Amino acid sequence: MLCQSSTELMELVTLVKPYTKQGKVANYIPALGRANPSDLSISVFNIHSSKCQSAGDISVRFTLQSISKVITLALALVDHDEEYVFNKVGMEPTGDPFNSIIKLEMLSPSKPLNPMINAGALVVTSMIKGGTVQEKLERIMSFVRKLSGNNDISYSEEVAISEYNTGSLNRALCYYMKQHNVLDANVEELMELYTKQCSIETTCFDLAQIGAVMANNGTCPITGERFIPIEIAKICKTFMVTCGMYNASGEFAIRVGIPAKSGVSGGILGIVPNEAGIGVYSPSLDEKGNSVAGLKLLEILSKKHNFSMF
Ligand code: DON
Repeated sequence: MLCQSSTELMELVTLVKPYTKQGKVANYIPALGRANPSDLSISVFNIHSSKCQSAGDISVRFTLQSISKVITLALALVDHDEEYVFNKVGMEPTGDPFNSIIKLEMLSPSKPLNPMINAGALVVTSMIKGGTVQEKLERIMSFVRKLSGNNDISYSEEVAISEYNTGSLNRALCYYMKQHNVLDANVEELMELYTKQCSIETTCFDLAQIGAVMANNGTCPITGERFIPIEIAKICKTFMVTCGMYNASGEFAIRVGIPAKSGVSGGILGIVPNEAGIGVYSPSLDEKGNSVAGLKLLEILSKKHNFSMF
């Protein structure tokens, strides 16, 4: 399916373009540092008309990074019941950066506070069913292909290796949780799966389609087929509101007011419940790891169309 260009979105991209000069492209994963900071794109998929509109550098592909945490949470909840999943990972926002270890040490048991932070996402990824890393990765990728309607989706080997080779902090989180019996996985295998999951590549159009399924309560707006059980879609959207933008989730709820999930690649998945899925991309990030221009695009669009749920 094609995404049409839209005058409204083109004007919005022009208006927001100067914000791409603010912030910094993530480079703690070295391969991400090669992104072009002036890239800016947006797609909006309306679930009622099944039409997609877009503007900006929409052919640019970027890695999901933390946006993948919503996908793996949904899949883990398909693979296991809620009790099993939330016995190992909590439901509360942290107020801390996404890769912080501090609450793990302060709380007993040292279970991660939610599935959107790195510690929680690592535990969730360890729950994905499959005999081998490859099999588990294939299940995650097929799920992304189904949700986005794009069978060509794959992952960037370059970004995955780059994160695998430099991810000492995530390894530290894993070993800490392993010591405290919260995590039971082989850490190197889990790191391989997690870094590959984070390196799945999409465009903002793919994100808008994924968002549209969630905005439509788990059902594909084009075919009517159920892709995610309704209760699971609801849990994912709720976590996106409370924890999706990390320690900026409160401000985002006030300024934009929709479920959203950011990634350090500069992508943001947005959901306007019962209305639309939104994908935005711009790689320059603020100090909390969220796309500066992406946030601005969403803020202006939300105010204009009264998207806020609150
Ligand atoms: O684990 C990491 O650090 C990255 N693969 C993902 C972090 C991320 O995207 C945080 N989001 N803003």
